[in-house]
Amino acid sequence: MSKRIAIFASGAGSNFNAIANAIEKKEIAAEIAILVSDCPECGAVEIAKKRGIDVFAFNPKDYHNKHAYESKIYDILKDCEVDLIVLAGYMRILGPTLLRVFHQRIINIHPSLLPKYKGLDAIGQAMNNRAKKTGVSIHYVDEGIDTGKIIIQKSIKINKDETREDLEARIHRIEHQLYPKTIKKILEEMK
Ligand code: GRF
Repeated sequence: MSKRIAIFASGAGSNFNAIANAIEKKEIAAEIAILVSDCPECGAVEIAKKRGIDVFAFNPKDYHNKHAYESKIYDILKDCEVDLIVLAGYMRILGPTLLRVFHQRIINIHPSLLPKYKGLDAIGQAMNNRAKKTGVSIHYVDEGIDTGKIIIQKSIKINKDETREDLEARIHRIEHQLYPKTIKKILEEMK
């Protein structure tokens, strides 16, 4: 039976789109049950609407606190019978309301070779540090920021005189390959 995933995104949604493409091409036996977004106007929500994927988009300011909106998300995910939560540029730290229930069933993609350059603007951090290499990490999500157990990493050299835009584009290309492949593997290994 095909597994059901929820994708969480706050931004442009290029990783979400790459995963949706891989599912459409039947490279992954899964269904995107819902896109969850804390940013109703973002690109990811637009992509979901175009693709006919259900969306739960909320404004955190409409809720008393993280527990309140995560409880709402939890109810929705339960109704959708979600097997795996995939964070794809979701810009909020998850709280215990979701972490406890989906223990070891939430993954994230981060544009650096963790544990290096955690948090915001990992690409900028690597460039400012004049790093010779950086990369992409996919990891399980825990209560920290980009601290969970690493599942897979891919390293790339930062070319001399490379612009930020070029490096970002190369990192995105890797992400769009690596995330669908890794999701496929995780779902296959899931009981
Ligand atoms: C990606 O670079 C991902 O690694 C990071 O946020 C970015 C999301 O980009 N967590 P997009 O919205 O998928 O285009």
